[in-house]
Amino acid sequence: MNQLLIRGGCVVDPANGIEAIQDVLIHDGKIQQIGELERECNSSRAAVQLPLNPAVKVIDATGLIVTPGLIDMHVHLREPGFEHKETIMSGTRAAAVGGFTSVASMANTSPAVDSPEVIEFIKSQTHKYGSANVFPLASITKNLAGEELTDVPSLLAAGAIGMSDDGKTVMNAELMRRVLSLSAERDFPVMVHCEEHNLNAGTVMNLGETSRKLNLPGSANAAEDIIVARDIMLAELTGGHVHILHVSTAGAVELVRWGKRRGVHVTAEATPHHFTLTDIEIEKHGVNAKMHPPLRTQTDVDAVIEGLCDGTIDAIATDHAPHAPFEKAQGMLDSPPGIVGLETCVPLVFSQLVHTGRLTVSEAIAKLTCVPAQILRIERGTLSIGATADLTLIHPDKVARVDATRFASKSRNTPFDNWELKGWTVMTIRNGVVIQSTDEDN
Ligand code: DOR
Ligand code: ZN
Repeated sequence: MNQLLIRGGCVVDPANGIEAIQDVLIHDGKIQQIGELERECNSSRAAVQLPLNPAVKVIDATGLIVTPGLIDMHVHLREPGFEHKETIMSGTRAAAVGGFTSVASMANTSPAVDSPEVIEFIKSQTHKYGSANVFPLASITKNLAGEELTDVPSLLAAGAIGMSDDGKTVMNAELMRRVLSLSAERDFPVMVHCEEHNLNAGTVMNLGETSRKLNLPGSANAAEDIIVARDIMLAELTGGHVHILHVSTAGAVELVRWGKRRGVHVTAEATPHHFTLTDIEIEKHGVNAKMHPPLRTQTDVDAVIEGLCDGTIDAIATDHAPHAPFEKAQGMLDSPPGIVGLETCVPLVFSQLVHTGRLTVSEAIAKLTCVPAQILRIERGTLSIGATADLTLIHPDKVARVDATRFASKSRNTPFDNWELKGWTVMTIRNGVVIQSTDEDN
């Protein structure tokens, strides 16, 4: 009998509408029991109600938030093909450190995830080396070339949970119509990177005052908005489910709102960098603030936050995009876009959204647990009795500095290095086993 008791934490399980001081008993990797104490969150403790077996390992979670294992629905693990940036081993370690027990992995590997064999490879590497669950996404088009649809049914049968050419936009609207029709038939998310390639070609940052000042080629909000509008219209046409990745513009937020109002099956995510930073950061951080879509203006950041608050933006995802130092050293024009995100997400969500009063703890946690689980149709993101015991323990008031030199990720490309943030993951539990803890006793 393998039991673990997490005692006295504030359990936040939005899927079940729970936010209260409770004890969670885990048995053989499943949630066995949740014992309610008499008083509410943040009030003084009452006696534990659970039957206690002396062999049970007890974790004192007093002062901590206990949530379902966090889910990052947008991660680049880079394996196969780009193991110098990240591997399934290092990327899932970084996930565990950040509090994520599950990640959806993007298909822009080499080879791309466009065949059942690559899915099998990812599953087998995860089985051998994974610290977190990896739910693979497969590409919409063969070799991400935007020309020919992959064999969607065989990829779904092999274990792909959705389709995405992330990193690129499928510019051919007819291909998008076809994949969204398949989505309507077979019930999977089509996760779209929205940047019109012709408008976007050669750009390295947002088009605006800062790009003009730095004399760098900039990309207009319209490049994103045009594709967001197109794909919402195609989802309406087909009845498929379109998920808008990394929303960065005020226009995209408004379009998603419009789509939802019309009853289109559209969901959306925002990244911590897009709800925290503006394009001014390029002046300070250069390549480590370069990503696609780019950091925008304060108006856009405010709109993204408003979208998160009013439910237009359903989920928070990192777009963890590791690149090696020698690649980022190529300068603004030539370095690849993207920043790492797994190990800074929780403190940014707490510092920027929760401690500022924009989202309640429960709203923020929903966007990192049950909502992505629902979008991806995966059985995770809840602490229901009998559910897989994936949990994250967060210290909401812990203040610490980001130290990129200590990342578990192989890469260091972040604009948040040295930021002092409040609210950190302190323990990650997967299948009832502690896989990461800042407390050396556990
Ligand atoms: O900045 C980005 N980097 N955006 C993407 O969509 C892809 C990603 C990558 O793969 O590096
Ligand atoms: Zn993307």
